[in-house]
Amino acid sequence: MEIVIRSTPADVSSTVADIVEGYVRRGPATLGLATGSSPLGSYRELARRHRQQALDFSAARGFLLDEYVGLPKSHDQSYFSVIRSEFVDHVNLDPDRVLSPNGEGADIAGEGARYDAAIREAGGVDVQLLGIGTDGHIGFNEPGSSLSSRTRVKTLTEQTRLDNARFFDSVDDVPHHVLTQGLGTISEARHLVMVAYGKGKAGAIAAAVEGPLSAFCPASVMQLHPHVTVVVDEAAASKL
Ligand code: GLP
Repeated sequence: MEIVIRSTPADVSSTVADIVEGYVRRGPATLGLATGSSPLGSYRELARRHRQQALDFSAARGFLLDEYVGLPKSHDQSYFSVIRSEFVDHVNLDPDRVLSPNGEGADIAGEGARYDAAIREAGGVDVQLLGIGTDGHIGFNEPGSSLSSRTRVKTLTEQTRLDNARFFDSVDDVPHHVLTQGLGTISEARHLVMVAYGKGKAGAIAAAVEGPLSAFCPASVMQLHPHVTVVVDEAAASKL
């Protein structure tokens, strides 16, 4: 596992953008896209490189990590909408080639297997961006998630609903259920790139990188992966 500690959040975003750019310039790349605030600076930097340095996403495709269940795709906080407004709309990545788990279909229980099959048919994910929750969750795999889990429905913890309430009018509007790639699914991506800023993430980063491999810190599953880059600022690295 490679740990890259940069001085500022802008440096972190630029390092993450460098990694993604490498894949995009090398040929048709399948990008694993994460929502949450942590990757936003990297998306903005990639959009800047698209505009100013002809970084071409036309051959790329993308898969989202997770989605709320029961929120219409058109809702501005569905991850389907968020990834469009924060990234896809600002580069020449074909929106039809960016897939997300369908959280509003009739067969939610069957959606996980369908989504995993779609990732497999695309040849797997080349580079997977990951944020981390303060409790060590990745995607929406809350503590206790099986390290080999596949894409499936999960129930959010009260803490994660409270954390995500900032994006909604009130915590009552935050869905209780989500579809998330499992830890086993995420681990099949060929390169995992975790991005975290700030003191609030220092404990989770230390547990993920140096703590015991445990379902109680879902991000510790990265310790089993052969190609991981963790890009953090000094604050998020402060407990390493
Ligand atoms: C949500 C997302 C995760 C994300 C986490 C942390 O739970 N499902 O993918 O990593 O939030 O978000 P942030 O980066 O805003 O701290």
